[in-house]
Amino acid sequence: MAKPILVANWKNHPASLEEAKSLIRELSKAKLVLKKTRLFIAPPLPYFELVSSGARSFAGLASQNMFAHMKGSYTGGITPGILKSFGVRLAIVGHSERRAQGESSEAVSLKVKAALKAGIAPLVCVGEPSRDADGEYFEVLRDEIKASLAGLSKSNVSSVIIAYEPVWAIGKSAKESLAPAELAESVIFIRKVLSDLFGRKAAESVHILYGGSVEYANAGTLARESGISGFLVGHASLNAKQFVAIAKSLTGK
Ligand code: PGA
Repeated sequence: MAKPILVANWKNHPASLEEAKSLIRELSKAKLVLKKTRLFIAPPLPYFELVSSGARSFAGLASQNMFAHMKGSYTGGITPGILKSFGVRLAIVGHSERRAQGESSEAVSLKVKAALKAGIAPLVCVGEPSRDADGEYFEVLRDEIKASLAGLSKSNVSSVIIAYEPVWAIGKSAKESLAPAELAESVIFIRKVLSDLFGRKAAESVHILYGGSVEYANAGTLARESGISGFLVGHASLNAKQFVAIAKSLTGK
């Protein structure tokens, strides 16, 4: 069976290089557990070197964002080619915190295509901002998936990984997160949307991760009962003990 995928989204943490070093040291102690997953760490850019050298034996390097253009003069934009040359193998694209700053699904779709061209796996974040009793949020989700994956083909969509992150469930506690049955329902819906867009075979090959307040307390049930391939973890990835426990519940050990 394929290893579960685990992505640590450090966002803009830890606050200092020293703290980041200590987190890597703590994680290294559990490398045998972590190696049972396909682990990626997405640190702030200044910690790239630390993560790529310090975690090389148990984690791949990921970026939290990526520029959509391959070359040109764009101050502040980091191109897929540069990321790739630093060893980045996966890029988080369209995180809701970036969408909240104005990143559109059209912009996300350009980044997805640029990542694929550079040989970086795009981890495309999608998720409804809120839920309503009539289930209209499903339409919101469908539209977002469709626009974010626009222009992809049956053959390249299988290199895309989807991170389903309901915006309302991000940055909370395990108790306030999505229930396993609700997650299972969303995963079925996302696969149906992918199948309508790219055909059943291609849709089945796409890995779907869950993100949004994954902690040790809910990781086990979410992993077991929902048909996901792994997790995108925010705040709990900054606590080595929690994070290793999440990895254990993903691998069933
Ligand atoms: P959280 O963040 O685990 O802190 O909810 C997840 C994310 O924003 O990717």
